[in-house]
Amino acid sequence: MARNESSYCDYNDAFKGYDQLRKPNALEEILQILKQNEIPDKQQRILEGGFGTGAYIEPIRHHVDEIYGIEGSNEGHRQATHKINGASNVYLQLGNILELPFSDDYFQGYMVNQVLHHLDIDPSYPNLDIFLNEAKRALQPKGTLIINTCSQEQLDPHLGVYWNYKYIETAALTIRKRYIPLEALISRLENVGFTNIKKEIPSRRIYHDRYYEDPSIALESDFIKGDSVYSFLSGKAIEDSYVSLREAIEDGSIYEEMKRTARLAEKIGEVMIVTACQPG
Ligand SMILES: C[S@@+](CC[C@H](N)C(=O)[O-])C[C@H]1O[C@@H](n2cnc3c(N)ncnc32)[C@H](O)[C@@H]1O
Repeated sequence: MARNESSYCDYNDAFKGYDQLRKPNALEEILQILKQNEIPDKQQRILEGGFGTGAYIEPIRHHVDEIYGIEGSNEGHRQATHKINGASNVYLQLGNILELPFSDDYFQGYMVNQVLHHLDIDPSYPNLDIFLNEAKRALQPKGTLIINTCSQEQLDPHLGVYWNYKYIETAALTIRKRYIPLEALISRLENVGFTNIKKEIPSRRIYHDRYYEDPSIALESDFIKGDSVYSFLSGKAIEDSYVSLREAIEDGSIYEEMKRTARLAEKIGEVMIVTACQPG
């Protein structure tokens, strides 16, 4: 049976058209953060947890000495392996980021891009603590943990930055609960012993341009499959969302909504980067 570690989304299916929809947002910011370590990036050994289709592994491998990856789905692992095309400084494996198969103090940097909300069903986020302790164990002194996640404000179905969430309100509210609020994430990082915790809003967007121009994209099965928020809806609820979206396209209101979300995203971003340091 195919392996899949997400608590709610089947990534062996979701990844089939994923790269046609999503971009590795925050890439420039991540590269900048790696440069801030006292060890030059070209000499660093980096880990990515939940690397998906390898959208970050492939570009980042050119900037570091070695990059390792742990991914929970076979399809992600397969696509990423294809993408890196035998690169000799990349080490990818299937696994669970709650049990990292690495010795202590192994990495100078560890990043997770849009992964943490997949770890917990329990609203007290117990697996998040397991993840943080594992990250702390695997990072060297002065190593950096880079977390790409979203704020509660960004994910609000009516006031947030994703225009399609308005038409799938219950799913949007459910996924928002899977994201720990940023202030609570920062407290947990502190409790585990990370220091120098910072938040940053990356400038780039998460989707390819069509999402920002053509609302009919959210009527297509490739889009629905590629965005895990739709995993919280039944087939009937997805059909219902099509009806309200079609109405909004016909009466033009969707275009106002898309303008509003674009303006807001310029201010508050579509994702957040939280960085934390392993004390030296
Ligand atoms: C939204 S996707 C993000 C993929 C990739 N990081 C990106 O940004 O393109 C979430 C990823 O986390 C992986 N994942 C979720 N829980 C995991 C776990 N416990 N261990 C390993 N991977 C996990 C999923 O398989 C999926 O690839």
